[in-house]
Amino acid sequence: MNLELIAYLKKQSQFTPVPELQEKLDLGRDQVFTDVEALMELGYSIEFHPYLGVKLLDIPDKFLKHEIRDDLNTKVVGRKIKTYDQVTSTNETAWGLVETDEECKDGTVVLAESQTSGRGRMGREWHSAPGAGIWASVVLRCHVPGDKVAFLTAGAALAIANMLHQFIHLPAEIKWPNDIMIRGRKVCGILVEARSNQPDVYVLGIGMNVNQLREDFPESLRATATSLRLERPGARPLNRVRVLRPLLFYLDRVYAQLKKKKWDRLAEAWSEFVHMGGKQVSLSQGGEEFRGTVTRIHPSEGITLKIGEEQRVFAAESVSGVRELPRETIESEQVEHEHHTGNP
Ligand code: BTN
Repeated sequence: MNLELIAYLKKQSQFTPVPELQEKLDLGRDQVFTDVEALMELGYSIEFHPYLGVKLLDIPDKFLKHEIRDDLNTKVVGRKIKTYDQVTSTNETAWGLVETDEECKDGTVVLAESQTSGRGRMGREWHSAPGAGIWASVVLRCHVPGDKVAFLTAGAALAIANMLHQFIHLPAEIKWPNDIMIRGRKVCGILVEARSNQPDVYVLGIGMNVNQLREDFPESLRATATSLRLERPGARPLNRVRVLRPLLFYLDRVYAQLKKKKWDRLAEAWSEFVHMGGKQVSLSQGGEEFRGTVTRIHPSEGITLKIGEEQRVFAAESVSGVRELPRETIESEQVEHEHHTGNP
């Protein structure tokens, strides 16, 4: 692959005549054609005109290391990138690297075009169709105090939501503890894992739905899942590398703040994307369902629900199935209950 040719074409906004490419890149005429064809085979979208020459229209929608690195302004996240066609789970691959590769640096990113057993929270399966999303894991080597570990998930959620607002112009919200939602549907999930034999190592898994159409999701997810494409005007597809680069950049910035223990600043920025205060939610803990009104929510201190007269705090690791209830559900249930029991 001729990286110089790619770099040269990227700088041009118009067609580049073949003789110019020959001269600037010191290539024979045939070599220019051979190299251009090789790029097209790799997925580069290139227009060729017999008189005007060559024009690069778009980069491949594929996780190619040199494209991900191009203009990637990060310090730690992405300083090593591993790409795969198919893995069981990028989190599993990342742990494999941690266990076997002494050199598996802080910030190593593992990416796959598809996962055969992508995993979600609480042992659930994560649907990861080939080429449809960003299935990524980042190895984090850092010491985080035990009571602040939930900041890893919250920090990632903050980075993702912020990136989606700034770069894709979509109204992303954080749904505590680990979901990114757009207009009430889940677009991205986060799974942070730790292992007892690997102190101060975490694997941060991110699953972002990018180009799925409604029918690409399994039936069971159609009502609740979405993709960036589905949320964009005209459902225009996105090049995943163009989404991945700013994602890694935002993660890198948040990770630097985490390492500096800027808990309050992170919590404040995070809370701007969490719109659950005052909402009525239900959640499960230990097989029991709880319903209440959110009175407080914090990255590491959990969610506080007002349940009747009681204020009850739930930690992120202990709950599942958090969902917002339609307005006034709890009040009307209480009224109904009072009615049945004959309470005034
Ligand atoms: C969830 O919402 O339950 C978390 C989903 C996390 C999915 C991602 S996809 C990349 C990484 N590898 C995995 O096996 N899981 C995470």
